[in-house]
Amino acid sequence: MKSLSLILIIVLMNILHSCQNNSASSGSNQSPYAKQVDSLLSIMTLEEKVGQMNQYSGFWEVTGPAPEEGSAAIRYEQLRKGLIGSMLNVTGVENVKALQKIAVEETRLGIPLIIGYDVIHGYKTMAPIPLAESASWDLEAIKKSAEVAAAEAAAAGINWTFAPMVDISRDARWGRVMEGAGEDPYLGSLIAKARVAGFQGTDLKAPHTIAATAKHFAGYGFAEAGRDYNTVDVGTSTLYNQVFPPFKAATDAGVKTFMNAFNVLNGVPATGNTFLQRDILKGKWNFNGLVVSDWGSIKEMIPHGYAKDGEQAAELAVKAGSDMDMESSLYVEHLATLVKEGKVDEALIDDAVKRILTLKYELGLFDNPYLYCDELREKEVIGKPAFHEAVLDMAKKSIVLLKNEKQLLPLNKKGLKIALLGQLAADKDSPLGSWRALAAPNSAVSVQEGLEKYPDNDLLFEQGVRLTDGSPSFLQEVQINTTDRSGFEAAKNIAKQAEVVIIVLGEHAFQSGEARSRTEIGLPGLQQEFLEEIYKINPNIVLVLMNGRPLAIEWAAEKIPAIVEAWQLGTQSGNAIAQVLYGDYNPSGKLTMTFPRNVGQIPIYYNHKNTGRPVLPDNKQIFWSHYIDATNSPLFPFGYGLSYTSFEYKNLQLSKNGFSKDGSIEVSVEVTNTGYLLGKETVQLYLHDLYASVSRPVKELKGFEQIDLQPGETRKVTFILNEESIGFFDNEGNWKVESGEFKVFVGGNSVNNLESVFFYEE
Ligand code: NOJ
Repeated sequence: MKSLSLILIIVLMNILHSCQNNSASSGSNQSPYAKQVDSLLSIMTLEEKVGQMNQYSGFWEVTGPAPEEGSAAIRYEQLRKGLIGSMLNVTGVENVKALQKIAVEETRLGIPLIIGYDVIHGYKTMAPIPLAESASWDLEAIKKSAEVAAAEAAAAGINWTFAPMVDISRDARWGRVMEGAGEDPYLGSLIAKARVAGFQGTDLKAPHTIAATAKHFAGYGFAEAGRDYNTVDVGTSTLYNQVFPPFKAATDAGVKTFMNAFNVLNGVPATGNTFLQRDILKGKWNFNGLVVSDWGSIKEMIPHGYAKDGEQAAELAVKAGSDMDMESSLYVEHLATLVKEGKVDEALIDDAVKRILTLKYELGLFDNPYLYCDELREKEVIGKPAFHEAVLDMAKKSIVLLKNEKQLLPLNKKGLKIALLGQLAADKDSPLGSWRALAAPNSAVSVQEGLEKYPDNDLLFEQGVRLTDGSPSFLQEVQINTTDRSGFEAAKNIAKQAEVVIIVLGEHAFQSGEARSRTEIGLPGLQQEFLEEIYKINPNIVLVLMNGRPLAIEWAAEKIPAIVEAWQLGTQSGNAIAQVLYGDYNPSGKLTMTFPRNVGQIPIYYNHKNTGRPVLPDNKQIFWSHYIDATNSPLFPFGYGLSYTSFEYKNLQLSKNGFSKDGSIEVSVEVTNTGYLLGKETVQLYLHDLYASVSRPVKELKGFEQIDLQPGETRKVTFILNEESIGFFDNEGNWKVESGEFKVFVGGNSVNNLESVFFYEE
């Protein structure tokens, strides 16, 4: 039991320092809590300091009686001794309160816990998976979606999310692409910023905001062969220009924490990587928040072949700048001894603990450790109707229309006979996506339910093809059904009678996400065969795809007249899809990750280098950079997405023929809605730096604007380019702006553009 006098000392210190801080903090970039943190640190034992750096998962039943034996008993004991600084995976006010009470009332210093959780795209009311959200290119909506997630999580006792994942990836085999914002560092940076702002808000102490985490630092999205946790070797040019920018943007947006990564980066595990964590993050970028390890990643430095044992792993990780140990227990086991033996400087421990305590102050936990533990708020806030509206809006904006021939879409609202097919069409669970936090099972609106809200058509449903066996979960491998054709006949029967067939195919939610890499990224199981069978009966097919990664669907892209990319859209999935299919929402999403024709093209990405032997469009040459069995072009490029209306681009104009130091140039274009419906277009601007001291990509996104146009309406869109737009990082990480010639491209995707050139003179 903590002594009363100590509590009193801490309270007095806090009061005293908050008075001092009010007068001293202005104009200083030091934390306003620096003095409180220092005072608290000065009365902590080495063991208590190390305890703050220890984070455990609350896998045991926290509100039940404390177990007397086993690892849970040991952890309770550690909690009472002040040897745990943070918990993850503890949710709900009742559970959080129970642990917080022990930390506050039973430890010597009463330091509250931070409660972390993977609130990736919602807590209970699920928004679309992040890859889907990114396809909206709508930064305000993305921010709003993060606000909803934060508000629900904060109401349930959580004050720290392990999101956003800002890893750039060019490999659709990697299951975790569903958690990111795609392949582009410019868009990825803006989305990182929006999501950090959404989670953290402007006042971290507000009971609806939580601390965010930029993860996984760094290079995790470049796992070899797309196999999760695999080796990463990336060159400096890619590291500085592709991998780092979204992390830097998150830092600039004030993200409070970083998570390091499971992978080695060029031979050194990210967790033990001084270059990443100390030189770049805490050095060059001046990040003063805390770095948490990934789950057990400190211990994983042993199998990586980097640390010989747990003790050395702890030493290497802390020296490299990992402040908090998630679940490997190595800090709490070894750090105090390492300090006492003189192997680790206590100043490193102090620095880590200061970062942790500062966040606790910033979250308001020292003012009120139960700030996030209000049962009434928990009841009132979670699942609010306004949250459902926000995630529905986000879901509609995330849908990408990939193909629409024969004007199959939008559907007439009356007099149609529709056959709806596919296991996913009636699935109320898979649309919740992977990383679904505390979403109730089967709580999504299915496509079938969404379509039933349009009662004047005749809707017939048959599952037809089974995607999975059993009910897949996060902790199991998904069993894909490859034998059951028993539903094919019934499906063919209704397809025969219908004017339009809507087939919902794709991946189950748990086929993407962590540890869900795939070597084939077509339609799993019997779905492709089923699609081809139905096509023979009735080719008037609208294929609705649900998936967590780009899919290689070359056959469908050629044969099927209408294809709608509907990802895993969260709680309101079916409503969003139905509104798009019926034209109550005109689709506006654009892909943020290239769709390959086949897996052999991977890694395939729009911002590639030209090579010394770029292939010409006819693909007829022999000794050029190409394949002999496929074209280099993707199935669907980055930035691509159709609308029910059409847009025409004309009059690309530059305000001058170039600019020089500190100057800028204006690029404008006229966009006309040439169709018959109101539509939203994302006008995209790309640059190509034609020659530079480090070769530059053939195209790089450098600006975009979303406009809503009435039928027949024309709008002039203007972009301003300056040195920020044309610069790049050299191989030492120095920012360079070099004289030269630049091509500028403007259009509705990364391929079909108007283009012009300009010069820059240093
Ligand atoms: C491992 C994942 O890589 C990371 O992203 C996540 O935040 C942690 N587990 C905690 O669940």
